[in-house]
Amino acid sequence: MKIREIQDAIMQLKKVHDFCILAHSYQTSDILEVADFTGDSYALSLKAKDMPQKNILLCGVRFMAETVKILSPQKNVYLSNPDAGCPMAEQMDKEFIHEIKRQYPDHTVVAYINTTAQLKTICDVCVTSSSAVQIVSKLNNDKILFIPDCNLGAYVQAQLPMKKIKLLQGGCPIHAAVSANEVAAAKALHPNAKLLVHPECRPEVCEKADYVGSTSGIMQYAKQSTAQEFIIGTEISIAETLQMECLDKQFYPLSQRLICDNMKATTLMDIYHLLNDGKGTAIELDDRTIAKARLCIDRMIELGG
Ligand code: 13P
Ligand code: SF4
Repeated sequence: MKIREIQDAIMQLKKVHDFCILAHSYQTSDILEVADFTGDSYALSLKAKDMPQKNILLCGVRFMAETVKILSPQKNVYLSNPDAGCPMAEQMDKEFIHEIKRQYPDHTVVAYINTTAQLKTICDVCVTSSSAVQIVSKLNNDKILFIPDCNLGAYVQAQLPMKKIKLLQGGCPIHAAVSANEVAAAKALHPNAKLLVHPECRPEVCEKADYVGSTSGIMQYAKQSTAQEFIIGTEISIAETLQMECLDKQFYPLSQRLICDNMKATTLMDIYHLLNDGKGTAIELDDRTIAKARLCIDRMIELGG
């Protein structure tokens, strides 16, 4: 079957089986085209609450599908490729964070949404890359324990010097691998380009950027800017999608190593098979986990709005 035929079949199957598809902006264009909604992790979690369909297929990684399940527990939620996890989300387990909390009992625990549902059950509030600064600024407590991404945490700290943010050694292995030398090389090659980066990059990379923001924030900035060239410091798909959507501008990936294999694990055929064969395994979380994890996601939505 040709790509277009598979896409047409998926559009039909969605209607027949009452599915909606939510796709993270890192997915490839053939997948974005069949989605009902695309966006960054904050936008996807907001949409999770009000999609009318009974079944939701999340194209992205496991913590995103878990977030959808937590917000819509009555729905059947599927992950497009059940093996697609975010390595950062698995970096810290409950026992480890319990121990750290014992050491910092007066700190508010802020969890990046890239964490497991289990870990969220012992945190106070979630944040995403697009909402972290705003949410932390609204917290009554100035003492913050920020997990697991020390780069995003350091970025929030730089924006909010009045807060005292305790960081742990965690983060995204793909974004954290980008070095200041790569920034210098990219800028030397494209001296007129604006540098747009995700806050999961190291502080020395973020400091050099013209804009730091979420995947959707980067796309919005590039589309609205009058500049003609952009170096994109996040997963390579964002530079590719922008290039397809803005033919009059030039987009250069900050590094060719900015590839998230987990985000790339989903194929159009995975979606087709899940809808056609009906053999997907729905996300299962027990009621207690859902109830406790939901508290910090609800708080994120309340403070992030
Ligand atoms: P966004 O919140 O910007 O969508 O980022 C999610 C992510 O996993 C970035 O690597
Ligand atoms: Fe996780 Fe990094 Fe992949 Fe985002 S890019 S899903 S943070 S591993």
